[in-house]
Amino acid sequence: MGQEESTVDTLLLPVDMRDSAAVQAALTQAAAVIRRGGLVAFPTETVYGLGANALDAGAVGRIYEAKRRDHRDPCIVHIASMDDMARVVSAVPASVTVLAEALWPGPLSLILPRGRAIPDVVSAGRPTVAVRMPAHAVALALIRAAGVPLAAPSANTFGHISPTTAQHVWDDLAGRIDLILDGGPTPIGVESTVLDLSGPVPTLLRHGGVPLRHLRDLLGNVVVAEQASGPAATSDEGDLSPGLSLRHYAPRGELLLYEGPRLRVLAALTEQALELLGGGGVLIGALLDDDDALALSDAVGKGLLVARLGHRSDLPGVARRLFAGLRDLETRGATVILARGFGGEPAGLGAAIQDRLVRAASGRVITLH
Ligand code: TXA
Ligand code: MG
Repeated sequence: MGQEESTVDTLLLPVDMRDSAAVQAALTQAAAVIRRGGLVAFPTETVYGLGANALDAGAVGRIYEAKRRDHRDPCIVHIASMDDMARVVSAVPASVTVLAEALWPGPLSLILPRGRAIPDVVSAGRPTVAVRMPAHAVALALIRAAGVPLAAPSANTFGHISPTTAQHVWDDLAGRIDLILDGGPTPIGVESTVLDLSGPVPTLLRHGGVPLRHLRDLLGNVVVAEQASGPAATSDEGDLSPGLSLRHYAPRGELLLYEGPRLRVLAALTEQALELLGGGGVLIGALLDDDDALALSDAVGKGLLVARLGHRSDLPGVARRLFAGLRDLETRGATVILARGFGGEPAGLGAAIQDRLVRAASGRVITLH
């Protein structure tokens, strides 16, 4: 607030892969921005990334400024082919080949020994680097056109809800970055799974698009870091992956997250919504699956704002709508957002969805019995 900051003109370019001439022109322009050390937001299959030349410390520094990102939080480096690995890491353990063959391009980031060409700022000074090959035609084409690996965190203000559309990126970063490539909504909607291969045992640091089960099928033993199994165990200092701090993915309003038997939770949500709405003068939102939204029709009739997640059993659908739903309620002005958690869905995407919700609620879960 009140801080003088220079702004840049942010260009928004649509990239419709069916129109190859327009795509070529957009990619040429974006690649030129990257090569001169600028910032380009681009779609991946998970969320939009904010990309810079990973080999250019100055360019990567600009990512931290634009996002107002904590300098202790390292970036993921995005590559387009296995040939790029040699420029990014100093060693390729055998497990990488197994994982890459099965899951790349895809929503899996691997923590590996950092190569000499990767500057300190990318890794927040760590001896390791996170690498991933995204499964999105625009992302891969941009990396190829730029001719360099791209350091890219999610393209949101630090700590805010991750962006799944170009509009989300615009809302957070317009005036702070050079270019946004609009490739439509991202198909997965939650970030990549982060797997640390730099130690003796593969360790999952963040639940994401690739389920733990797949990693165990391929590698056998995979342990889950405390920080990935719940913010209760998360400390802000000195943990394995400092970006996974407690308050993350947070809407401007307060998220009240409920767990427990469905009917108990629905009763509590209704009571809480009616009480808050009765106070008057504030907008209250709820992030609900379609069945729960019907069950709360009383409160909806009294003004409760609802963002719908689709059917609870369709976890890919829920993941795709999760961040957009939170942003929708925020944009409509909700000062409190009510939600029922996905703690009963530990498999696959359920773990990633629940992790994001718990962090958006700053680690507080209201558990009913
Ligand atoms: O799906 C995704 O991963 C998206 C898209 C754009 O690729 N990117 C993304 O980046 O989510 P970001 O910066 O929001 O999250 C990266 C996570 C952070 O929690 C960070 O701490 C962790 O990966 N990370 C990155 N490099 C690391 C390293 N060397 N050691 C441990 N953790 C690392
Ligand atoms: Mg992020």
